[in-house]
Amino acid sequence: MKVLVTGGLGFIGSHTVVELQNKGFNVVIIDDLSNSSEKVLDGIVAITGVKPAFEKIDLKEKSKVEDFFARHTDVQGVIHFAASKAVGESVEKPLLYYENNIGTLVYLLKELSKKDKASFIFSSSCTVYGQADKMPITEDAPVKTAESPYGNTKQMGEEIIADTCKVVPSLNAIALRYFNPMGAHPSTEIGELPIGVPQNLVPFITQTGIGMREQLSVFGGDYPTSDGTCVRDYIHVVDLAKAHVIALERLLEHKNDANYEVFNLGTGTGSTVLEAIQSFERVSGKKLNYEIVDRRPGDITSAYASTEKANKILGWKAESTLDEAMKSAWEWEQKIRN
Ligand code: WQD
Repeated sequence: MKVLVTGGLGFIGSHTVVELQNKGFNVVIIDDLSNSSEKVLDGIVAITGVKPAFEKIDLKEKSKVEDFFARHTDVQGVIHFAASKAVGESVEKPLLYYENNIGTLVYLLKELSKKDKASFIFSSSCTVYGQADKMPITEDAPVKTAESPYGNTKQMGEEIIADTCKVVPSLNAIALRYFNPMGAHPSTEIGELPIGVPQNLVPFITQTGIGMREQLSVFGGDYPTSDGTCVRDYIHVVDLAKAHVIALERLLEHKNDANYEVFNLGTGTGSTVLEAIQSFERVSGKKLNYEIVDRRPGDITSAYASTEKANKILGWKAESTLDEAMKSAWEWEQKIRN
């Protein structure tokens, strides 16, 4: 069974390729290498022993997308990770985000709509909820006005897929709303490539821990939470990857209840920034140098997932604890620095 993974050399994409190969899928990767490296292929092979096919394609080039599907008529499923994902950058460069995240999605859906049957998994985000009113956040929580063009592309992406599924019954899609992905494969063969200054918390913690960064700035200590710092649902990237395979199999085996479904992917547990720091200190045995500074504009106070729907319907549950995920992130950091 041939599956296309766009953005398959990226952080979540590469971990999902490994889990797909573990389940015997024949994977072909498209990646434009804008935020990844072809060396990730070596990491995947080191884990599974199978080198996935890889094509360097910019999905913004419509003719290239058409050509790919003309050459790979046996692709039955697509897991679509390829997108720009930096919240701050999206505010400065909205058109880059709308072209790259929306234009490419439309081209993929046009090709899939031509097939007599297609299964499509979309990489969405809890960012669509904004600051939800109730915790834990359920899938029927209202989608709020996006705080950034990045978040808007996830909301628009879901709507585009839902509208297309309404008129293309042969297209079956699932949107997976990630909470906060972190960590790395236990083999330390793949992980989050450190490109530039990390925007996300966990890579900044591990780079501070290894001495690459002087000090972690904790953005805000006056939130209405247990210790004044923001609450997030940190989920191990391998747990997240496994959920993608389960969701794809649900569609391939026609177990879906509708041809467009949405699932939250989180652990169901919220952790504050200080709790994440304490987790790092536990697993590394090192004291982390941090300072509480002003809030970061656009941050919400709290977000953690209701996992009920994914548990009950997908039969999936995150297995790793925060410490296990943080340990894998720390081991990856040490590996790439040595
Ligand atoms: C987590 C917490 C920060 C860095 C974003 C996107 C989401 C997804 C994940 C792509 C917040 C605090 C962070 C630092 C800090 N991205 N923090 N110091 O903002 O919850 O989610 O990334 O899919 O869609 O919205 O993640 O890791 O940036 O921040 O104090 O140096 O850590 O304020 O409370 P976020 P994050």
